[in-house]
Amino acid sequence: MSFSVAVIVGSLRKESLNLRLAKALVKLGTGKFNANILRIDDLPLFNEELEPNFPASATRLKSEIENADAVLIVTPEYNRSVPAPLKNAIDWASRPYGKNSFAKKPTAISGTSQGAISTAAAQQHLKPVLNYLDVRLMGQPEAYIRFSEGMIDQDGNVTNPDSQKFLQKYVDSFVTFVQEQPQRANAKAA
Ligand code: FNR
Repeated sequence: MSFSVAVIVGSLRKESLNLRLAKALVKLGTGKFNANILRIDDLPLFNEELEPNFPASATRLKSEIENADAVLIVTPEYNRSVPAPLKNAIDWASRPYGKNSFAKKPTAISGTSQGAISTAAAQQHLKPVLNYLDVRLMGQPEAYIRFSEGMIDQDGNVTNPDSQKFLQKYVDSFVTFVQEQPQRANAKAA
């Protein structure tokens, strides 16, 4: 059985290291899941006053998440916390009240930076937000990836053998985690 994954990258940069990591995770999941890296750079800053005329970009984001079997978040850390573009996307997808698109979605988080703690603080801040939104959060393995040049190329090829092994294990664990979930309404035959 193959399944679909909505990937949300917390950086808007074209040269994002987290985008590279996301592409790598998607490649390592080839044959196991189909992934769609979601656009979040066209979302307006969240403002409750915009909700009555819900922006088309936010409606699109919500349906992409709802139609996926699982969510994979790959995020940088900004000032020891969650980057604003990612929190903004989460806030839009959680609205309107009672129509939270993340509810019960199997979800895993990961992230990379060149810093010593490699997004650990951001991921720890993100977890209670996702728990509040009632996702099914993968607890293990964690993936705090300290990025170094030569680890992952622009196309998402993992060029360091130790990193390749670690990331493959992470992806395989994610696949098992998603497949073990009782509710997979969008499950498709491979
Ligand atoms: C950073 N960076 C950073 N890194 C880190 O490990 N911990 C942190 O708290 C921060 N804080 C921070 C704040 C802001 C506003 C910026 C712009 C950057 C550095 C960050 O990890 C680095 O720029 C990454 O390359 C960002 O991820 P992408 O865009 O490459 O995916």
